[in-house]
Amino acid sequence: MVEEAAAFKITHVKESRVKQLDPENIVFGSLFTDHMLVADCIDGVWQTPEILPYGDIAYNPALASLHYGQSIFEGMKAFRNVDNEVVMFRPEENFKRFNISAERMCMAQVPEEIFMGGLKEILKLDSAWVPDGEDNSLYLRPFMFASDVYLGVRPSFNYRFMIIMSPAGKYYSTPPKVKIETEYIRAATGGVGYAKCAGNYAASLYPAKLAQEQGYTQLLWTDAQTHTKFEESGTMNVFFVQNGKLLTPKTSTTILKGITRDSLINIARDSGYEVSEQDVYVKDIVEGIKDGSVTEVFGAGTAVVVSPFSGVGFEGDDIPLPAITEKSISSVLKQKLDGIRKGKLEDTHGWVYKV
Ligand code: COI
Repeated sequence: MVEEAAAFKITHVKESRVKQLDPENIVFGSLFTDHMLVADCIDGVWQTPEILPYGDIAYNPALASLHYGQSIFEGMKAFRNVDNEVVMFRPEENFKRFNISAERMCMAQVPEEIFMGGLKEILKLDSAWVPDGEDNSLYLRPFMFASDVYLGVRPSFNYRFMIIMSPAGKYYSTPPKVKIETEYIRAATGGVGYAKCAGNYAASLYPAKLAQEQGYTQLLWTDAQTHTKFEESGTMNVFFVQNGKLLTPKTSTTILKGITRDSLINIARDSGYEVSEQDVYVKDIVEGIKDGSVTEVFGAGTAVVVSPFSGVGFEGDDIPLPAITEKSISSVLKQKLDGIRKGKLEDTHGWVYKV
């Protein structure tokens, strides 16, 4: 059945696949909901977005994004709250960041009606896919790529914006052990570190693979110039607890401005913790873990939420961190964030967005 709903052309699936969803056994990024959104920008003009049954897309081998990497994305989540309503968390922030990434990668700006309106429309259609369960959510993946068929190096004239959705559970089953990376870099000043562009993730794979071969789960990136200051970790921002105070690297052109990061800073301050956004030096943290003043190191991001590390590796040494308890600051912050998102705690910042 094809239907024109508001500004969207919708083709419904004949039969939902939602019975494939097992909330007890979710593997991140492996199962997709019934529908996907597709919107093309042709020579600067956005065409009517279509919502279609989820499926393959075919492309010309000269597709510009395959060759020169004009490709960006966002990661966001929808939840089922205590009243069984479907809600998103701070989606306007993802919308803004998406267009900041688009600007840096010289791509078309996506209009709010398509990004926000599209999310609402597709979430309404596939709401049965938002799983129950403490660590479960529906991961939303808006993305855009250059769709010119052309091999010359210049910004594409045409773009395709899409939204796909995938049920998500816990990202890491056990606390990651991370290696402090002092050879390879993630981003340099003036580069694209703050943009959520595909190439940032591609560039991280080789150093991450080397670290995995050495027994680590992920990397803790340091600054490109001196390798003395922390930047972020894997796909997440990073926090340290030293003498009961939270430290996190201040954002710059080399660090992604995480929405979970910002939410945790606010929740921590609201809860009376001291938080400092500052340069965080590798030496201070390594010494602090050894002398017991640093008690927690954790990642924060949409996919991982709050992910405490079991230890860090530095210059061949493995330095374990104390085990996390319910009273650890990372546990308290995660509980509060979850509570706000699921409607168990008051949403004093107006972060929760009902679909
Ligand atoms: C997110 O947290 O949304 C991310 O970007 C992680 C993703 C690359 C798995």
